[in-house]
Amino acid sequence: MESLFPLYLTFDDILIMPNYSEVLPHEVDIQTKLTRRISMKIPIISAAMDTVTEADMAIELAKMGGIGIIHRNLTIQEQVREVEKVKKYSSWIITSPVFVDEETTVGEAIEKMREKNISGLPVVKNGYLVGIVTSRDLRFESTKSKKIKEVMKPKEKLIVVKEEDKISPEKAKEIMHEHKIEKLPIVDSEFRLKGLITLKDISKSEENPNALKDSSGHLVVGAAIGTGEKELERAEQLIKAGVDVLVIDSAHGHSRWVIETLKKIKEKFDIDVIAGNVATQDGTKALLEAGADAIKVGVGPGSICTTRIVSGVGVPQISAILECSKLTQKYGVPLVADGGIRYPGDIVKALVVGADSVMLGNMLAGTDEAPGEKVLKDGRPYKVYRGMGSEDAIKDGMQKGVRSRYLSQDDILPEGVVGLVPYKGTVRFIISNLMKSLQVAFGYIGAKNIKEARQKARVIRITEAGYKESHVHSVQVLKETFPFVEK
Ligand code: XMP
Repeated sequence: MESLFPLYLTFDDILIMPNYSEVLPHEVDIQTKLTRRISMKIPIISAAMDTVTEADMAIELAKMGGIGIIHRNLTIQEQVREVEKVKKYSSWIITSPVFVDEETTVGEAIEKMREKNISGLPVVKNGYLVGIVTSRDLRFESTKSKKIKEVMKPKEKLIVVKEEDKISPEKAKEIMHEHKIEKLPIVDSEFRLKGLITLKDISKSEENPNALKDSSGHLVVGAAIGTGEKELERAEQLIKAGVDVLVIDSAHGHSRWVIETLKKIKEKFDIDVIAGNVATQDGTKALLEAGADAIKVGVGPGSICTTRIVSGVGVPQISAILECSKLTQKYGVPLVADGGIRYPGDIVKALVVGADSVMLGNMLAGTDEAPGEKVLKDGRPYKVYRGMGSEDAIKDGMQKGVRSRYLSQDDILPEGVVGLVPYKGTVRFIISNLMKSLQVAFGYIGAKNIKEARQKARVIRITEAGYKESHVHSVQVLKETFPFVEK
């Protein structure tokens, strides 16, 4: 029987044996490669799903050293706008600062500062910078009807920087220290207000030493595209907007349409392309030969996915990664393990069997940065998380002229569900805990980096009893902490 039907395994079927170790958590380096040319500081990618990744998620992930893939259930213009938001994001320059007109009264300016929770306002006249006013200037001003132009620091006394100087944070800090100021307006050659630098924002941005940036200092971002001619237009627009990597997003990457689209993009543009999804060596080989810069692996492991139930087709994810990685490693092309990750330990398992990074949907969908509002159910907060092959997602896409990654014709056969995931707070909280888990794991394995972990890890198969023992058991959980034990 076994030779007829080989046994394929997934995350819960295996564990990693501990090894002799001299590795301390802070010595662990989890840098990895996303594609042939793009490196990442952490092996985490957010899924190209409409309840997971738009600009907010991509910004936060890139700040932490990972990358977000903007989903494609959007018109081309909408998706381009999300990419632009990430590209224009600067953690230390405010590109659209709150300002007041010189005719504003002191009372109104105080109100504005309170409402926006800021301590200073550039003052403008017809868009031109004419002064600056801080809460310190207004604190002892008793005549609330006075005009701002009477109390502001006027243009002649202002310290500003020119937009074209493209100042560095270090230089900005130096100027602010020298002049004992905390706010530095940015102006163009005509003195129009173009931005604002604050000392507070510079200090905050220094908290992100791992941020993943392109050669001009902007955060790195990816975007999903589909297959076919129209999607080449999408690719072109996304590239113009500065996207760093494209992901050909298909449930069945080992197909004519994905291969043709991949070849055309690689012929036409100079951009790294992640192609998928596949789960076999044949599929991996076909995409590698067509020029893929990374291979995305996963057919049916996703938490919201019904592909395997609907079609009986799929490959348990750990074996899929193991199989496909034999080829990706031979070709020197990174592998992204997409779907099915439920616990931090699953990320470690994926990495040691051959993945270079993991794509997360479920784990990130409950965070503030995922699109959508919190909803309350039985008094507890949740967020909606839905499959891109769910009926709702497909219909929303169709309204925008988007063809789903699951449609082979025009009628809908859903391959995903709409669900709720517990609200989890910020993505920063989740990712920083995931990274701590990786450090701990590598300590057990006795490895300082992913390559070493792969060489040293001894993976074993476990039984259902072993699985039960691995999870919290024989207690009633009173206090939930990360990684949020399942009930
Ligand atoms: P997790 O397990 O992180 O998986 O929630 C996210 C991945 O699941 C895939 N995906 C789907 N698969 N039907 C599917 O068969 C769907 O409707 C669906 N939506 C997303 C996708 O690869 C994603 O990254």
